[in-house]
Amino acid sequence: MFLKNAWYVAAWDREVRRDLRAVTILGERIVLYRSLAGDPVALEDACVHRKLPLSMGRLKDDRVECGYHGMVYASDGHCVFAPGCQRIPSIARVRSYPVVSRYGLVWIWMGERARADSAAIFQVEHWDDPTWGRNLGDSMTVGCNYLFITDNLLDPTHVAWVHRSSFGNDACAEVPVETTERPDGVIASRWMKAVEVAPFYVPLVRFSGCCDRLQHYEVRYPSHAIIRAVFAPAGGAGEGANHPDAMVMDSYNFMTPVDEDRTRYFWFQLRNFSPQDAALSKAMDEGVRAAFAEDRVVLEAVHQGFRHQATRNIDLAFDRPQLVFRRKLAQMIAAESPLPARSGETDVR
Ligand SMILES: [Fe+2]
Repeated sequence: MFLKNAWYVAAWDREVRRDLRAVTILGERIVLYRSLAGDPVALEDACVHRKLPLSMGRLKDDRVECGYHGMVYASDGHCVFAPGCQRIPSIARVRSYPVVSRYGLVWIWMGERARADSAAIFQVEHWDDPTWGRNLGDSMTVGCNYLFITDNLLDPTHVAWVHRSSFGNDACAEVPVETTERPDGVIASRWMKAVEVAPFYVPLVRFSGCCDRLQHYEVRYPSHAIIRAVFAPAGGAGEGANHPDAMVMDSYNFMTPVDEDRTRYFWFQLRNFSPQDAALSKAMDEGVRAAFAEDRVVLEAVHQGFRHQATRNIDLAFDRPQLVFRRKLAQMIAAESPLPARSGETDVR
């Protein structure tokens, strides 16, 4: 089940070119391309005639020609040429999706066109801040339902076991997690005081010795996350992120359900130091990708575990943020698709 009236990431901007690219989002087959003017275009990937994917056809200027019988579609989805047709029927059109380029990503609106408002796209703080560094980011397709990834991104504890060589260490096992519910999502967070710096961050912090560490895990509906890590000198003057030596790393994570069993996971990071250090950005890209590959192994196995579930599962205390998120998202999805009105039914008691 997916929330339709929402922006999702369709692709990296760099992936949408002057050719036809097939993607599947929320189970819908979509073809992406870039217009001559440079704007991204997203159309239903199925000719109205025999449903051949348009992505198997040809891009001709701003139009797509079907590879089966040459029907031609404009970028608004209307068929503008059909062989042997003097008058093209008005129903000869494929769906076109609103798309917007932002943060190096192409965002697509999967719901009612009239409700698409680009102001609702996830806001990335410090994107244009010249004092902050940014890495290129990456993506991967994970063989699991997207809600297992949102679970994972509302779970600061898992780093103690899944990412022992990077994001986590023993300090991350027992400190309680606080749940904050907001209108646009859920935050799971905790400060860990006077703990060792976890391996991934050791070369990044600007102080030695122990740290006070914040894990701020925030997922917004339907499936977008900011994971903020703060490392400040332990017990230092000034609180947390405001400490002059505090290292802040914001990890942005955008999950696009391919279908119920697969998710394309996009990410990039911003940091409050070394804005021009390309070697550092590259190293961060590599380190993050390696850690997320650890998540992938676990999440795909969890997906299969539930697929073959034979006995009931239990939840633990630190699962609360995930459960709150899932419950509210399920309500939002249900509200989008009201049950059909009952007619002619009689209650029998
Ligand atoms: Fe993880």
